[in-house]
Amino acid sequence: MSEHLDISQGGKAEKYAALLPQIASVVEAESDPIANMANVASMIHETFGFWWTGFYRVISPEWLVLGPFQGPMACTRIKKGRGVCGTAWAEGKTQVVPDVELFPGHIACSSASRSEIVVPIRHGEEIVGVLDIDSAELATFDDIDREWLEKVAKLL
Ligand code: SME
Repeated sequence: MSEHLDISQGGKAEKYAALLPQIASVVEAESDPIANMANVASMIHETFGFWWTGFYRVISPEWLVLGPFQGPMACTRIKKGRGVCGTAWAEGKTQVVPDVELFPGHIACSSASRSEIVVPIRHGEEIVGVLDIDSAELATFDDIDREWLEKVAKLL
């Protein structure tokens, strides 16, 4: 029923609304980006109980490398344009993937991952990394996640 849907969607937005100022205060208190990525991955992961929450950093014109994360071990390098992360980087646009098996070229770091969101992180105009979140359930992420996670990315 739509009433039930409204309650669950509202709960998600409320969680993000409570989390964002906490993330802002953590990031304002520390200048080191790796330390901040580590705490932000933990805060998002603990709040929502996602399967995998973490960062890939741009280390060259062609490559992302694994950064701080929470969850099972993951692929260490992803080429620009490859997988969901490399596509978010190449297109400069958040990718919301309801079913990873239907995303051409999806990189399966874990077979338990069913849906995914990847948000580019910018320094000025330039993309310096991505925030990648995987869920063990289908269709976990929507425009609410996109909106709030893009706000998180702006804080980094
Ligand atoms: N699935 C991602 C790779 C990273 S793992 O999910 C942690 C992709 O297709 O880019």
